[in-house]
Amino acid sequence: MTMTLIASFFLLLNCLALAEPQAVAADDPGTYLPLPSWDPWYRAPEGWQATTPGTVLRVRQHAYNMTPIPILNVGDTFQVLFRSTDSLDNATWAVTTVFMPKNPRCSSNSTSSNCTQGILSYQLPYDTSCLDASPSFGLQWGEPYGEIAIALARGWWVSVPDFEGPLASYGANIVAGYITVDSVRAVLSVADTHYGVKNARAAMWGYSNGASATEAAVELAPKYAPDLHIAGAAIGGLAAVVGTAGPLLTATQVAGLLVQGIIGVTSQYPEQRQYILSRLNPSGPYNATEFFWASYMSGWQSLLYFCYVDIFEYFIGGKDDLDHPDLRAMFIREGTMGQFGDPNVKMFVYHTLEDDMAPIKDTDALVASLCERGSNILYHRNHWGGHNDELTNGRQRSFDFLGDVLDGSDVMKVPGSGCKTVDLTFMQPYGKPIV
Ligand SMILES: *[C@@H]1O[C@H](CO)[C@@H](O)[C@H](O)[C@H]1NC(C)=O
Ligand SMILES: *[C@@H]1O[C@H](CO)[C@@H](O)[C@H](O)[C@H]1NC(C)=O
Ligand SMILES: *[C@@H]1O[C@H](CO)[C@@H](O)[C@H](O)[C@H]1NC(C)=O
Ligand SMILES: *[C@@H]1O[C@H](CO)[C@@H](O)[C@H](O)[C@H]1NC(C)=O
Repeated sequence: MTMTLIASFFLLLNCLALAEPQAVAADDPGTYLPLPSWDPWYRAPEGWQATTPGTVLRVRQHAYNMTPIPILNVGDTFQVLFRSTDSLDNATWAVTTVFMPKNPRCSSNSTSSNCTQGILSYQLPYDTSCLDASPSFGLQWGEPYGEIAIALARGWWVSVPDFEGPLASYGANIVAGYITVDSVRAVLSVADTHYGVKNARAAMWGYSNGASATEAAVELAPKYAPDLHIAGAAIGGLAAVVGTAGPLLTATQVAGLLVQGIIGVTSQYPEQRQYILSRLNPSGPYNATEFFWASYMSGWQSLLYFCYVDIFEYFIGGKDDLDHPDLRAMFIREGTMGQFGDPNVKMFVYHTLEDDMAPIKDTDALVASLCERGSNILYHRNHWGGHNDELTNGRQRSFDFLGDVLDGSDVMKVPGSGCKTVDLTFMQPYGKPIV
């Protein structure tokens, strides 16, 4: 596993929080949006706590007001700020960015009255506790994998939620799940009010940390948003159990993820955050200030900065400090999939046997447990490649599945109910376009 490979699945954004903000007006054509931390639009309007989850609080049409928008097949974009719920069940809010295709399938002047617009909620992993590395801001410079463009070519809208929320709570899967669910409710609502789209069908997709948000969302949705119908969810490279595995990342190439995870998850838990602050070295080498520099770094920057660093060095009591029961309980609560609820959507789960970041045994166990509880899953176990390879190798199968649930085709032959596990050896043929 090389750093180059790991890089390929993180959004290659800079976290620009320390940079001088550009004086740009959002409605000035050809300009970029300001940093989220400086952007007055990224504030919930007064009284927002009293609204119900999924309520639309702000809409910014033509959000990416440059020509052309540097993602293929985009016609226009809008952003929605909506009410959601955090990990402790308090009110929070979040933002999603919606890309609409150049050739829309349904629109206010569509002649077909029964036109159904496919909407893909696409959870892009950003792996950082830096708000200014959120996709809503970073996607102005393009997309990392070309997947948005492919979905747009299929005629779908693509909604990319900042599922870590306004505190950039990397690793906090409960709030990520709620935000993902509410982003779909909010986009469906704006589709109707602002774009005349009455009939829409929504599906979800996420890989790696985007899979965590997606999986948490489909588990939480039945109780949290019983009226919301989600047509299907594609979930790849999921880390189904991170609660106890986190500390194992210390002194590895991906030690930066541990720092980001401690900062990100404790952003939702004030008591655990206080505890962390009380245990970090106040001065000298490996001090608290340096630890929190991570929240001014993109996922990629923090991987470089903390590469092979023993993160336990930052703590007065070393490793033992991270064994505190309240901290462990927090990580287990947030990082154990399968305990949030019983999904009622059709699912495509894909994973490689050789996944070097998220062991397949945890996903095997999760799928088995969800299936016992009545889920409807097609589970692909690929005998080829590692975590980063499956990002590419799973792409066509994911699009085929999403086409099945959004457009009514049957390419993937997902069973009508119950589960089916398929072992396969699949490598995306080099140079073959994904559609
Ligand atoms: C959030 O929820 C917790 C637990 O229910 C509660 O103790 C706390 O006061 C809440 N915080 C805010 C800001 O509402
Ligand atoms: C309305 O229809 C015209 C002609 O088909 C098309 O060019 C245009 O993009 C449509 N408008 C919207 C908002 O979809
Ligand atoms: C949509 O409406 C048209 C015309 O009323 C009808 O022929 C067609 O079968 C309908 N399609 C669906 C998917 O309901
Ligand atoms: C904390 O560590 C950073 C980075 O090594 C260093 O620049 C800074 O002076 C340290 N702060 C204190 C108070 O020791």
